[in-house]
Amino acid sequence: MKSRSAWAEPYKIKMVELLQMTTPAHRKKVIAEAGYNTFLLRSKDVYIDLLTDSGTSAMSDVQWAGMMRGDEAYAGSENFYHLEKTVQEIYGYKYLVPTHQGRGAEHLLSTILIKKGDIIPGNMYFTTTRLHQELAGGQFRDVIIDEAHDPDSDHPFKGNVDLAKLEALIRKHGPEKIPYVCIATTVNMAGGQPISLANLKEVRELTSRHGIRIIHDMTRVAENAYFIQQREPGYRRKSIARIVREICDLTDGATMSAKKDALVNIGGFLALNDWDTFEEARNLVVVYEGLHTYGGLAGRDMEAMAIGIRESVNQHHMHARVGQVEYLGHNLQAAGIPVVRPIGSHGVFLNASAFLPHLSQDAFPAQTLAAELYRDAGIRTMERGIVSAGRDPKTGAHRYPKLELVRLTIPRRVYTQAHMDVIAESVMRVYDRRHRIKGLRMVYEPKYLRFFQARFEPLG
Ligand code: F0G
Repeated sequence: MKSRSAWAEPYKIKMVELLQMTTPAHRKKVIAEAGYNTFLLRSKDVYIDLLTDSGTSAMSDVQWAGMMRGDEAYAGSENFYHLEKTVQEIYGYKYLVPTHQGRGAEHLLSTILIKKGDIIPGNMYFTTTRLHQELAGGQFRDVIIDEAHDPDSDHPFKGNVDLAKLEALIRKHGPEKIPYVCIATTVNMAGGQPISLANLKEVRELTSRHGIRIIHDMTRVAENAYFIQQREPGYRRKSIARIVREICDLTDGATMSAKKDALVNIGGFLALNDWDTFEEARNLVVVYEGLHTYGGLAGRDMEAMAIGIRESVNQHHMHARVGQVEYLGHNLQAAGIPVVRPIGSHGVFLNASAFLPHLSQDAFPAQTLAAELYRDAGIRTMERGIVSAGRDPKTGAHRYPKLELVRLTIPRRVYTQAHMDVIAESVMRVYDRRHRIKGLRMVYEPKYLRFFQARFEPLG
């Protein structure tokens, strides 16, 4: 195991938020009331919250100071210009449209670029991204390498695109049916896995030949850049900022959920290099989000984001961020717990199919495991399996993803190494009694993004 000093937090704590301690009887009651869906728990009933790394990070004192410099003018806020300049400098995109969060940007982009019957290839789906593509009349196609669907593959870049799959799609449908290829850094649903620069360059070469755009889901681009620095030949001496820029420069535009990498509690944007698409987006944002110089955000939110973007590419920050996630992941691996390998950047993903092999996918193993983990010690995690995958819009049947996972997502700069130990112990306790765990059945299913609000009851 690595020594503690290998990734000690590059900050000290100025203010603390007290945690809620709960009893087993209370947890048993409230998870039943929540329909065995961790999204429906109240946060006051949660001890350690690993639901998501989205909007849950701790801001720095510099970001909080920036909040006080919020220019809350309706139009032309100074904070917008600071954010625009930062996006241009760090990411290199020319034009910026702020949005309230990532899916606001996905909505604008999908509405503008996708026509009915279009095909959108991507390195694995993300829930909101795919839904916006479908609502705009398009169909998502997965072109990620097969290794990404195998939790036991140690491939260092499981976010890579399988070029043969992409080329076959282009040949079958024609480039005019493909408005863009969606490239995520890192790939959330695969377990926080990175794409390599070598692969991205090949995707660029192929798409350029056919005049197809690359739209970058840059939600965790700095984390992806860190993995490139650590794993890809030739990048060890390059800064995270430089690698981030190299990734962005290979793409034509981006949607960003700043609630992750950029260390803010709310915010996002659409960034573009081509003027015409930007013009349309700047026009449309007024309809759905707000004026083009605030896009649903307060001035202070844009200021915190501008500062957070710079902090996100700091080497010490990223070393500690990924180091903490790896610390938890390696402890679980050492205890024989089935986890997705290699350990990703934003969380540890338990392989629920291997954890609960006696449950079929129809008994929702990952949903079941997330509920059990909550019951054990008040640790809240998230299902990323059949419930998240939803139904095929054409046939109405469940989609059966190969990955049936529970995500232990680590917020940035929030929990300590001792918390990681408590989490690992809880997972081990549940693992020890795994044979006694029964599955769930779904008793309420919403139409869109069902995982957020679905309700379950215990089987048997
Ligand atoms: N793309 C990726 C890769 C994401 O992980 C998310 C959000 C989005 C887009 C949408 O951004 O939430 O700001 O609207 N992921 C969160 C999560 C919700 O928990 O993984 P958003």
